[in-house]
Amino acid sequence: MRYNLTDKIIIVTGATSGIGFACVKDLVKAGAVVIGVGRNENRNRSSKNAVLELHPNGKLEYLLCDFSVQSQVRKLAEDIRYLLTKWGFDHIDGLINNAGVYLEKKQMTEDGIEMTFAVNHLGQFLLTHQLLSLLLKAENGKVLTTSSYSHRTTPLNLKKIADPFPYIGLLAYKRSKLCNVLFSYELNRRFPYITAFAVDPGLVNTGIASKGSNGISNWVWRTRRHKGTSPELPVRTYLYLLSQYDIDTSSGYYFKNCEAMKPSQKAVRKELAEELWDISCKYTNCHSQQCIKLMSKTKKGAQSEHLFC
Ligand SMILES: NC(=O)c1ccc[n+]([C@@H]2O[C@H](COP(=O)([O-])OP(=O)(O)OC[C@H]3O[C@@H](n4cnc5c(N)ncnc54)[C@H](OP(=O)(O)O)[C@@H]3O)[C@@H](O)[C@H]2O)c1
Repeated sequence: MRYNLTDKIIIVTGATSGIGFACVKDLVKAGAVVIGVGRNENRNRSSKNAVLELHPNGKLEYLLCDFSVQSQVRKLAEDIRYLLTKWGFDHIDGLINNAGVYLEKKQMTEDGIEMTFAVNHLGQFLLTHQLLSLLLKAENGKVLTTSSYSHRTTPLNLKKIADPFPYIGLLAYKRSKLCNVLFSYELNRRFPYITAFAVDPGLVNTGIASKGSNGISNWVWRTRRHKGTSPELPVRTYLYLLSQYDIDTSSGYYFKNCEAMKPSQKAVRKELAEELWDISCKYTNCHSQQCIKLMSKTKKGAQSEHLFC
């Protein structure tokens, strides 16, 4: 099926390889105005060139951001605003939170937070907050966050999540993917004027686990990845969710293969999602009070403004 996203403004993180890069290609093909985000200048340039070679009239720019560094995420939001203003746009139709890592060994960010949690959840949480007022200005703003089936099989202790001990790479990854679902559900609860989805791409043949490991995980992943689909397959779900106006969400907000599926029971626990929201605000220095203020302002129909962080 061909999806039409003509002139829809979409931001894609993790846009230099795998699922994110495949998303950018198909979004540009579908007519969207796309801002891809990557952490490496050269990979940004070559990704942009590769897409524009396929679609010379595409509207596409790449911006730089390392999601493990919160000051860079804040700067990214400023760069997005600047670029959109330059292009004459005042809103964002879709944000795809897709950047992700798998790290066999524990690493801490310069903000003092375990890297998997920082990149896979906190960075995306912070960017979403920074862009909320632009998403709220869209007719039908959507936030899609790439989760994973693996969110189903992990314990979650939020008290230790920023500095877990002992560290087990697979569990850190699974926890972060559970956070993606909890975050998406909570975003819907707090901001009824946008729709948030968690996307399960299935097993996809990308390099994700080889990047963060030279050891056993790399070996396992090199065998396992070949059982996965090509990244183009899950992209259909992102395009479906972004292009359809009335998605049936009566079965929830966790989607795989263009269909709603049940996430784990833990992933829809409201009090857990609230707790995650509060600690995410704490670790990113965002303030829930301000989020609520923006929501009520928008409800009254007043112009939403940037009140965050
Ligand atoms: N592959 C699967 O089977 C699978 C299954 C379920 C969920 N997922 C999820 O799908 C998403 C995309 O992963 P993928 O499989 O497509 O792997 P991938 O090809 O490695 O893509 C990950 C993307 O995130 C970027 N990234 C990593 N760390 C970053 C950082 N600190 N700051 C900014 N960007 C960063 C990578 O940039 P570089 O190009 O510079 O490395 C890359 O563009 C992830 O959230 C992953 O958890 C994957």
